[in-house]
Amino acid sequence: MKRIAVLTSGGDCSGMNAAVRAVVRAGLAANIEVIGIQKGFQGLIDRHYELLSTKSVSNVLQRGGTFLQSARCKEMLQSAGQRLAAENLNGMGVEGLIVLGGDGSLAGARSLAQQGTAVLGIPASIDNDIPFTDISLGVDTALNNIARAVDNIKDTASSHDRAFLVETMGRNCGYLAVVSAIACGAEYSLIPEEPYDLEKICQELRHRYQQGRTNSIIMVAEGAGNAQLIAEQIKDKIGFETRTIVLGHYQRGGSPTVFDRLLGARFGQAAVEKLLAREKGKMLGIKNSKMQLTPLDKVIKAGIRPIDELLPRLSKALTI
Ligand code: F6P
Repeated sequence: MKRIAVLTSGGDCSGMNAAVRAVVRAGLAANIEVIGIQKGFQGLIDRHYELLSTKSVSNVLQRGGTFLQSARCKEMLQSAGQRLAAENLNGMGVEGLIVLGGDGSLAGARSLAQQGTAVLGIPASIDNDIPFTDISLGVDTALNNIARAVDNIKDTASSHDRAFLVETMGRNCGYLAVVSAIACGAEYSLIPEEPYDLEKICQELRHRYQQGRTNSIIMVAEGAGNAQLIAEQIKDKIGFETRTIVLGHYQRGGSPTVFDRLLGARFGQAAVEKLLAREKGKMLGIKNSKMQLTPLDKVIKAGIRPIDELLPRLSKALTI
């Protein structure tokens, strides 16, 4: 193998730079040229790319986002776009491609694999909704961002006897909301995986207010409802004054945690090693701390990674 390429696609996440850096360094160490494709699959379709050197990846490890930039590419959803992407890779002399991204990006990678491209995927999405890996790149940094925000919110909430509804990202997955509820001592986490009874929550919050508790935090996964609308429904029933905060894209940025730097380094290096071992059409994942490969087809067909049922149980058990 003489030349490989790497791209970051879909919603960015912290740790992508660490992974691309590892791809470049592992590639160069094996005497392989590494091409960086800009703006994900869009760059592949538009042929926007550059040869990467150690200099290209110096000083990026600690930076959030992705220096290669990312995009959500509509053309890649169509077979014409997928064909053009595969043709362009051939034209660029690329013998192996590494795709970092979430479920949509991995579906794009599968479409290239189906056309014969040697492609490997790295699960990278704050949502932690990708199956066949215990954790995706960027999740740990996002959780730390959320924890920092909720800790701050708790301070001001306590000064004013307020309840805060804190909306997290995650699409249809409640992982960020439930884990941050445990990590920050929130009273509730409303997640799409579990039904919730708003009337019961109101009664319990009112009781809490009457007991003289100074604050309440309700984490709301974006897939479980709109925090502002829920606030409207509960605000006159719970005693506490109610406020809402939507954390939004704040969760996705920032310097990656050591966990994400290490995970990015491991994924990037392993991706090159596996391509050289002629593995293709698969996604890397971490299971019980060990690297594993799963066919992209299986990953896509499995849909959303189910939430560990211990997490909502733990979150509830710690709320009294
Ligand atoms: O998939 C990552 C994610 O941040 C989701 O949690 C969120 O719903 C979505 O992307 C936001 O997408 P965009 O950055 O395109 O607004």
